[in-house]
Amino acid sequence: MAYDVYKIRELFPMLRKDKTMQGKPLVFLDNASTTFKPRSVIDACSSYYEEHNSNSHRGDYDLAYDADMMVQKTRDTIAKFLNCDSREVVFTSGDTQALNLLAYGYALKFLKEGDEILLSIEEHASNLLPWFKVAQLTKAKVSYIPLNKYGQITVQNLKKALSSKTKIVSVAHVSNVLGYTVDIKEFAKIAHQFGAVMVVDGAQSVPHSKIDFKDLDIDFLTFSAHKMCGPTGIGCLIGKYDLLDRMDSFSLGGGMNVTFHKDATIEYLNPPSKFEGGTLNLSGIYGFKAAVEFLMDLGMDNIHAHEVELQEYALKRLKGYKNIYIYNAHARGGIITFNIEGVFSQDEATLFNHKGIAIRSGLHCAKMLPEFLGVPSTCRASFYLYTTKEEVDAFVDALINGGDILDAYFS
Ligand SMILES: Cc1ncc(COP(=O)(O)O)c(C=O)c1O
Repeated sequence: MAYDVYKIRELFPMLRKDKTMQGKPLVFLDNASTTFKPRSVIDACSSYYEEHNSNSHRGDYDLAYDADMMVQKTRDTIAKFLNCDSREVVFTSGDTQALNLLAYGYALKFLKEGDEILLSIEEHASNLLPWFKVAQLTKAKVSYIPLNKYGQITVQNLKKALSSKTKIVSVAHVSNVLGYTVDIKEFAKIAHQFGAVMVVDGAQSVPHSKIDFKDLDIDFLTFSAHKMCGPTGIGCLIGKYDLLDRMDSFSLGGGMNVTFHKDATIEYLNPPSKFEGGTLNLSGIYGFKAAVEFLMDLGMDNIHAHEVELQEYALKRLKGYKNIYIYNAHARGGIITFNIEGVFSQDEATLFNHKGIAIRSGLHCAKMLPEFLGVPSTCRASFYLYTTKEEVDAFVDALINGGDILDAYFS
């Protein structure tokens, strides 16, 4: 079936035709930040509260059994989506918590003084700060894979940065600022040759393209449901089972132990449960399953092709405007990062807002990247599976025609 973006839009309440911002039709181009939810996801979340409300893994009655089954079915669905085992799917509150779990559960246990954690300066804060903290605690060292002149993280530069001291390599599969895709399969192969584990921050890749956990042969993958049409407050750590098994739990309490004793010893459940202390975000888990099914129905290759088509169309239209700087023309995906000569990025975003268009401005949580780009901040437009060519036109027209920032504040 052909990919019909207009039919797809009908499934999203936030994309209804009368939805406005600043009195203008809403054009939402901040999808790298979060995405809209289709009706099926919203209904799945509320069905938990309206039909299935009970706790999982605690009750001996039908309603609680239903909740247990839904947690398991969601794990199975995610496992099918990513080609991993459902025992390798750990629920977290999102990508950030998954990376913190890795830092505290894996790195804190296995790193020692002098070991290295290899990152890049374009990582999101969530893929830097947990490692910084754990480096302080273990006296390990943080180092960085140099970027090439476009801001890409290449295999050649990975090879230069790796050493026998490197124990963890952690990079975003797709950068949330420049949108470049890292050759993760090759990265994992090389990291393993050096004896390091490969952590992939999939926040910007899992929602946009087909990911095969087994084929990539990575060790850990993290992502958030809300960036892929799912609810907020739920996400995943995917990890190879033997590594999860050796890792420590970070969130201790009910639901993750077999038993515990007066001498303060704890017997843990097996992964993934041993990482899921406390009541799970069950409404989120219901919605997460619906979101993954929604994406699988559309087809990840179709979604990716749609975004690339929109990006190419936008770049073609923007060609030749000397005052518009595009920082990532070599990327292939739905992220366009830009500035207009002489215009502060936040002013630009305010002007866009005035026209009903939501874009992002600032540092995009990658606060070490401006040093490389040579500018204090940038604007970012990000497309998703429901973005139309007309919306791209509205964006390009607003960019080309500009406007007076005073209009945005005073009209
Ligand atoms: C590359 C990347 N990593 C991590 C995160 C953090 O995701 P969350 O806030 O959903 O935990 C984001 C969010 O923008 C991101 O783009």
